[in-house]
Amino acid sequence: MSEKNSGQRDSFSTNFGAIAAIAGSAIGLGNIWRFPYVTGENGGGAFLFIYLIFIVSIGVPVMISEFIIGRSTQRNPYGAFRLLAPGKPWFLIGLMGVLAAFFILSFYTTVAGWTLEYFYQSVTGNLGGKGHDELTAMFSSFLDHPFRPYLWFLIFMGLTALIIISGVKNGIERYTKLLMPLLFILLLLLVIRSLTLKGAGEGLKFLFRPDFSKITPKVILEALGQGFFSLSIGMGTLITYGSYIRKKDNLTRIASYVVFSDTLVAVIAGVAIFPAVFALGGSAASGEGLMFVVLPEVLHKLPFGNIFSLLFFILLAVAAITSTISVLEVIVAFLVEEKNMPRKKATVIATVSVSILGLLTVASLGSLKDFTILGKNIFGILEYLTANIMLPLGGLFIVIFTGWFLSRAILKSEMTNNGEIKTRYLPVYLVLVRYLAPVAIACVFLYSLGILKFW
Ligand code: PHE
Repeated sequence: MSEKNSGQRDSFSTNFGAIAAIAGSAIGLGNIWRFPYVTGENGGGAFLFIYLIFIVSIGVPVMISEFIIGRSTQRNPYGAFRLLAPGKPWFLIGLMGVLAAFFILSFYTTVAGWTLEYFYQSVTGNLGGKGHDELTAMFSSFLDHPFRPYLWFLIFMGLTALIIISGVKNGIERYTKLLMPLLFILLLLLVIRSLTLKGAGEGLKFLFRPDFSKITPKVILEALGQGFFSLSIGMGTLITYGSYIRKKDNLTRIASYVVFSDTLVAVIAGVAIFPAVFALGGSAASGEGLMFVVLPEVLHKLPFGNIFSLLFFILLAVAAITSTISVLEVIVAFLVEEKNMPRKKATVIATVSVSILGLLTVASLGSLKDFTILGKNIFGILEYLTANIMLPLGGLFIVIFTGWFLSRAILKSEMTNNGEIKTRYLPVYLVLVRYLAPVAIACVFLYSLGILKFW
């Protein structure tokens, strides 16, 4: 990763390092916290079905497009579009990405702070022996606490900034290699525990048996938004990371590994949570607190529950930080390369400004919770705006750009590494970026605005 100020660019040192960093960005709270709660609010199986279709038909081509733009230019998103389309307004996509990075960090770090609180509560043994109602009460009184959620937010933001300043390569590559497989194993344990609860079958039905009558314009837009959010696409994160991928690595292969593992983790998180929701008596549609009121109870139904619980929340925090650094990196790379700032100064400026909006976001679930616009608090607005609007819109323009404006020679040479590897996927990719993906994203937008009707 980029450890130096400006000048010569650094890159991921191995193919595995690239996959680990990109999967690290993709896999995070989006999979384990957001996927289950959004699935729960949007009716379960039918949502999952549409989500999977979007991942393959839209997610993969957008991801590869971002890699191509980043690796061919060796720039941050803004600079990349300036270089590929001088004098044209495409650079606005890069700017929208920087703005989206601010918004995402504000609410994402808020939730990341919750995982630290729950880690702390596991250490002090406070989560054990509590039932659904007590855990629900505990979660909401935590959100209302006058300083704890703010403190955890700032701690998490600070940790993210430290990693960004001190250079990512050694630290991140080394730790994620060990810790992410561990998180995966813990999730599998949770799955087993959750599936062996009495009444678990209902949860599986909820997740895997699509009830197509539940599909509404909202469900479709949410599925698209969750796909973009979970894969970290549509805002230039993967243009930035793509610019660090070595010339000899296979972009299509990296994308398929990342998409596969990201989707697997999301589905497994769903299988850990929904059976427990149905067995232990909660509601699938209980919003952003879902994971925090369901999983502590399941964790404590394992032998040595407390240890599993503290392991789980700390590993989740690690998964979250490999995502937050990729978001902060978008802002920092922009300031370093376009505003000629030293890396350290850029990180401090970005962190301080994100924290101002972030603290407001934390407050919007506590003392400011009565302040709403269109029924949503600041947290909800930022989440909705980024996941469901800014990222898909960014993705729409990105595929239009690579499909219709970027020279075929660049596309081809990036996908085949200058003719060195064969990519059977190339013709499929071209159809997806030129026609299917842009039309599909546009239709979802029009449909959710009520302008288009299918049935
Ligand atoms: N994909 C990350 C997650 O699922 C969140 C993220 C969104 C990261 C957008 C970067 C950009 O946790």
